Amino acid sequence: MIGAAQEDRRVSITGLGSRVPERVVSNDELSQYVETSDEWIRERTGIRERRIAAPEEALSDLALPAAREALADAGLEGPEIDLIIVATVTPDMAFPSTAALVADALGAREAGAYDLSAGCTGFMYALAQGYGMLAAGLAKRALVVGGDVLSRILDWTDRSTVVLFGDGAGAVVLEAVPAGGFLGFELGADGAGGANLWLPGSGSRIFEDPERHVKMNGREVFKFATRVLVQSAEALLEHCGVAVADVDVYVPHQANLRIIDHATKKLGIPSERVVVNVDRYGNTSSGSIPLALADAEVDGRLRAGSLVLMTGMGAGLTWGSALIRWTKETAA
Ligand SMILES: CC(C)(COP(=O)(O)OP(=O)(O)OC[C@H]1O[C@@H](n2cnc3c(N)ncnc32)[C@H](O)[C@@H]1OP(=O)(O)O)[C@@H](O)C(=O)NCCC(=O)NCCS
Repeated sequence: MIGAAQEDRRVSITGLGSRVPERVVSNDELSQYVETSDEWIRERTGIRERRIAAPEEALSDLALPAAREALADAGLEGPEIDLIIVATVTPDMAFPSTAALVADALGAREAGAYDLSAGCTGFMYALAQGYGMLAAGLAKRALVVGGDVLSRILDWTDRSTVVLFGDGAGAVVLEAVPAGGFLGFELGADGAGGANLWLPGSGSRIFEDPERHVKMNGREVFKFATRVLVQSAEALLEHCGVAVADVDVYVPHQANLRIIDHATKKLGIPSERVVVNVDRYGNTSSGSIPLALADAEVDGRLRAGSLVLMTGMGAGLTWGSALIRWTKETAA
């Protein structure tokens, strides 16, 4: 699907927050668990370290502080929120939803709250939904969280996946604004490629020996990723009548530095406009883009008036882009 925002119904990001677990796991530490090396991981992925949740930490333990920070940034209290969407593939449990737990903890008693699953693209899907609910007048203030504790579903003996991922969450508040804000969205899914990145045995389909760990065909996902990051972004820019040269800040899914570099070059976006934090966090799945946004804000790169392009991709296989004219002033 592809669509441009309505001129008379402007919605923007008015608050941002993030949280990663305390524990830093270096490439050297990983090489104690699987046959790998700091050199291999850096060369092939650009990742230096990632954060890994403590045994007692679940997604809501990261989502909640990220949400509180986003609310404070927007100058809002929990009860003022009437929609909460948590994008994740690792909720605390199948039900209750993590969004319902977050709503309760925030005292958002009037809020509709649900989890959304679209792999690493979850945050992009959730942003589009939040925008749609506000633009349609169904909700007034939305909290959109993207986060995952992927370390729980990794096979810690599989070097082809364990080196790539990390844990973390980010949150944004969406509100109506007089001008600027979201300009459009492009979302897509290709279930035929789903088995290239999947978690067999995690639902109602019975598998003989499911293991319940992430399984991935890295080369196929690499090809998919480099293709869709470019196609999705180009399609959305064209649909919104915006030239790539006008993009001030590009926030791609933080999966692998080589994938980001490839997409950036193909799109023709100068590297200084690209937000990269995969070196410090690895691929945090649904947390990736909001964590990168939060970093960019801290760095002073998100200024009112900046044109920000975000593109995610991941399991499903799925992809999605959003274009936004940033309206929020940079925090001091
Ligand atoms: C996973 C990925 C980094 C592998 O890089 P690659 O350059 O394609 O490497 P290959 O899979 O071809 O493997 C090359 C060699 O390194 C080995 N290898 C794989 N993982 C390794 C690791 N962690 N450490 C050391 N060696 C490793 C392989 O066994 C292979 O050895 P061989 O040549 O003896 O068979 C890359 O394919 C990738 O990033 N894919 C996308 C994954 C992704 O982003 N998934 C999430 C999407 S949301």
